[in-house]
Formats: sequence, structure tokens, C-alpha cells
Amino acid sequence: MVMDPHEHAKGLAAKKALEFIQDGMVVGLGYGSTAKLFINLLGERVKQGLKIRGIAASIYSEEHAKSLGIPIIDFNQATEIDVDVDGADEIAPGLALIKGGGGALLREKIVASAAKKFVVVADSSKIVAKLGKFPLPVEVIPMAAPLVAKKFTDMGIRPQVRKVISGAEFITDEGNLILDCDCGLISDPAALAAQIRAIVGVVEHGLFLNMAEVAIVASEREISILYK
Ligand code: A5P
Repeated sequence: MVMDPHEHAKGLAAKKALEFIQDGMVVGLGYGSTAKLFINLLGERVKQGLKIRGIAASIYSEEHAKSLGIPIIDFNQATEIDVDVDGADEIAPGLALIKGGGGALLREKIVASAAKKFVVVADSSKIVAKLGKFPLPVEVIPMAAPLVAKKFTDMGIRPQVRKVISGAEFITDEGNLILDCDCGLISDPAALAAQIRAIVGVVEHGLFLNMAEVAIVASEREISILYK
């Protein structure tokens, strides 16, 4: 069977990220297909004797990691993560990211904010010159969603409530909705982040600015390490 080249590249990036993990660390476990590959590899290392504890960025990642024998803790046990490994939907210069394609941006940002080192793992299709081709996910309180959507429309942004295949609204791990926002290409991510943050009813947005320290970006044949 021929492997999808993106999947192969994601696997290379995930494997490289293992080099950042050492015995005794608290490791942030991200969400998405690339983060899942990393969790799989980490599970193998744990079976071989690596001693780490994980803090997961989604309920799915937590369950998956537990099923592989990775010990899972929460912020009651440790308020600092040594290394967080997570994917991204877009990676722009300065390691500015859009995340949340999987709908876990809130927990992902909490986990990344607690990390001494946030390592992004991705295939090279995620590299962009400017953020914004990928619709920006914004997590909102359900009762406020129409108000927040109206504010976005007034700002010239086109929001869409995320739905699942059945047509029902997508509900996040925290019981909120996601607005996928077509912002066009984002020329000033920090200014947009501040504007969105100021809207009452917004819980969090998927702009991860000045958070990632390293990005491991793989193509089918080569791996690049990008620094902030
Ligand atoms: C999950 O909510 C996202 O932030 C993911 O990290 C992002 O969508 C990347 O996912 P893939 O690794 O599946 O491309």
C-alpha cells in the first residue's frame, strides 16, 4: 500500500519530536493527526521504559494516551510542562500559528501556555507566508454565538458555526461552539487577536502568537527545524 505523502511527512516530524523528550519530563500531548502520531511513538517509548507524565490537550488525546499506557496527570499535579508537542493548521514566519482545526484550541492553548518549550509538528503543507487561508477557529459560549457572529460580520469577517457530518453543531470539550472565521489574509495577527479577545462571549481564538519555540516541519524526504 502506498502511504499518503502528507501522512509520511507527519510521521517524520512526530518521530523527530521524540528527541526533545527526556526521562522525568511532563509532556504536553496535543491533538490532531500529527500529534496522535507523536503520542503513538511516545507510547512505544513508555513501553520500553521511558518515564514521563503527560498532560493532554483534549479528551480524545487523554483517552488515547492512557490506552497506550502513558501516565496522565492534570494541572493539580504539575503546573509546568517541560515540552508540549502539538500540530498546527498554518505556520507563518515567527512561528505564528493558526490552530483549532480539530476544535481543541482552548485546551491546546492552555497546555501550550504552561509549557517551557512548545514544539510544533507538521508536514510542509502547513507553511504559509501569511496566516488566514485556513479559517480561524474561535471558541464561543453557545448563547453568545449569534452576538459574536454579528460582531465578526461588522468587522468584515465571515463566521460559520462549525457543524459535524450529521448537521448538528460541533461541541468542544468544554461544551462551547466553534465559529470558523474567514478573515482573509491576516496582515496584523496581533491586532486581530486583540480585537477578537475583546468580544464578550469569545472564550479563545486559534491564533497562537509568540508561543511556539520550535517547529519541526517535514516533507516526504527532509525535515526542517524552524526557530522563532
Ligand atoms: C486541533 O485542534 C488542531 O489545532 C490541530 O493541531 C491542527 O488541526 C493540526 O492537525 P493535523 O496534525 O491533523 O494536521
